Amino acid sequence: MQRRTLLKGAVALSASLALNRKALFATAADSRIEVLLDEPLGTISPAVYGHFTEMLGAVVYDGIWVGENSKIPNTGGIRKTVIEKLRQIKAPMVRWPGGCFADSYDWTDGIGVPAKRPERGGFWRGEPNAFGTPEFMRFCRLTGAEPYFAANVRSLSPLAFDHWIEYCNAPVEKSSLGRMRADDGSRDPYNVKYWGIGNEAWGCGGNLTPAEYSEEFRKFTTWTPGYGAPLNFIAVGPGSDDLDWTEQFCLSTFAGKRAINPKTVYGWSIHHYTWDLARGKTHDWDAAKGDALQFDQQDWYEVFREGGKIEKIMLSNWDVLGQYDPGHHIKLVVDEYGTWYKPGSEVDSSHSLGQQITLRDALLTAQTLDIFNRHAEKMGIGACAQLINCLNSLFLSYEDKFIVTPNFFVFDIYQSHQGATAVRAEFSAPQVNYQRDSHPATFWGLNGSASLKDKTLTLTVVNPHTTENREAEIALRGGSLSSVEAVVLTNSDIHAHNTFDHPEFVSAVTQKIPASGATVRYTFAPASVTKLSITLS
Ligand code: AHR
Repeated sequence: MQRRTLLKGAVALSASLALNRKALFATAADSRIEVLLDEPLGTISPAVYGHFTEMLGAVVYDGIWVGENSKIPNTGGIRKTVIEKLRQIKAPMVRWPGGCFADSYDWTDGIGVPAKRPERGGFWRGEPNAFGTPEFMRFCRLTGAEPYFAANVRSLSPLAFDHWIEYCNAPVEKSSLGRMRADDGSRDPYNVKYWGIGNEAWGCGGNLTPAEYSEEFRKFTTWTPGYGAPLNFIAVGPGSDDLDWTEQFCLSTFAGKRAINPKTVYGWSIHHYTWDLARGKTHDWDAAKGDALQFDQQDWYEVFREGGKIEKIMLSNWDVLGQYDPGHHIKLVVDEYGTWYKPGSEVDSSHSLGQQITLRDALLTAQTLDIFNRHAEKMGIGACAQLINCLNSLFLSYEDKFIVTPNFFVFDIYQSHQGATAVRAEFSAPQVNYQRDSHPATFWGLNGSASLKDKTLTLTVVNPHTTENREAEIALRGGSLSSVEAVVLTNSDIHAHNTFDHPEFVSAVTQKIPASGATVRYTFAPASVTKLSITLS
C-alpha cells in the first residue's frame, strides 16, 4: 500500500517538475515573488536553526545516548547516525536538559564516575543520570553545536547555578569544580555562554507570577561569575500569546528605582506549540489536540493557521520589550515550537510525547523558519521541539532502527540561510479557500523568505495548497541571475511520512532550472517546501 503511494508520489513529483520546464514557455503566471536584493532585513543568526533535547521519553536515552557498550554504532556512547545527521545540517545549537525537566534537575547528579551517579525518580521518567553535563558537552563537541543550558530555578538555589557555571567554565588552577570537570574528561573549560534562567516559570517552572519570576531572575543573573565566558542570560517569556506575562515581567524588571539594565539580558524565550486543533473549541487540553496521521484537508490548513500565530506573538513581544529596551538589545528566543498531537503514533509506547512526523509537519516547520528569517533582526535563537523521538522531531529511533523525518529535510534544505543576510521578498498568490467547521476560510497561497550570502540568493517557499500548483514569476530587484537549482520536498499524499520499513518514503529531490536575466518562472508543487538556490551574475 505504501509502495503504491510512493510510486504515485514520485510520478506526481516528476510531473510537477516537468511542468516547471513547460512553465518557462508559458505566458501567464498566477503568482509573483519579488525579491528586493537591496533591502536587507538583518543577518540570520545560525542559532535560529537550533534544537531542543530534554531528558524526556526516548529523546536522550535511546535517541541520543545508547551507551559506550551498545551494539548500536556510537561515539563515546552517542548514536553515530545522530552525530552525522546533525553535522550534515550544521546544527548550530542544542538546548538541554529541559523543558520542564530542567526545574527538577540537580546537575550534580550527572557528573563524576557514571557508575557512582545516583538514580532518581525523575520528572518525566526514571533518571539514570548516565547522560549528564560531560556527556551533553561531548554531544555538542561531536556535532559542532553550541550548548544552551536551562537552569533549575524552581528547586535549586542561585548558588547551585553559580556552581554549575563554575564546573563548566572555571580553569582547573582556580577551582575544585573545574578540577572535577577535568576528572570527567575536559581539562579545558567548556566556556558555556548561553544560560536559560528556568523554563516556563508561569507553569511547571514554579507557577510564579511575573513579579516573583523577576525576583528570581535578578538573583540568578546579578554578579554571576562567568570565568571569562560572556554569559548570555535568557529570561522565561510567555507561553503562546500571554502578553500580560511579558508586560508585567518588564515592569517588574526594567522599570522603577531597582530597574536592571536590559543589556544584561540576552534573550526572551517564547514557547508556541501547534496543538490547539480541535473542531469547535474545548478547554480540555488533551481533547484539543489533533492526530498526527489521521487528518483531512481542514486539519491540514489548521496546523498552518495555528502555527502561524507565532509571527504575531513574536511581534507583540518585540513591541513590549522595545518600550523598556528601545535599542532592542534583548533578542527573541523561540526555544520550543512545533506540532503536538495526541498520543498513538509514537514508534514505541515508552516514547512519551513521541509522534509520527508527516509532510504536514515539514511544511509547518518550514513556515516557522521562514517567519524567523523574515524577522532576522529580532531573532537570537530558535529551538525546534524536540530533536528526536518527541513532538516535532527530525529523527525517530528505536534501538538499532533509525530514520529521518520530513522535518530533517527542511533543516537540510534551509541550512543555506544560516548566517546569510535576510532580504525582503514580497509574495502574491491566489489565496487558499477551504471550509473551517463548515464556514468558508482563507489562507495565504504562497509564502517564504529570502537571504543572500556572497553571490547566492536562497529563496525558500511553502505552497500549502493540497492539490494546486502555483506557477510564479520570480523577479529580482537589483540584480540578475546566471543559474537556478531547486530542491523540493513534496508528495502526492499529504499524510506521507517515513517509517522503519519505508525510511525514504519522503525525501527531497534536486532539479536544475535553465534560467538567466532578472526573472525566472517556477511552478511550486502542491503541498511542498521548495528552495531555489539562485546564483547571481
Ligand atoms: O517539550 C515538552 C514540554 O513542553 C517541555 O518540557 C515544556 O517546556 C513544554 O511545556
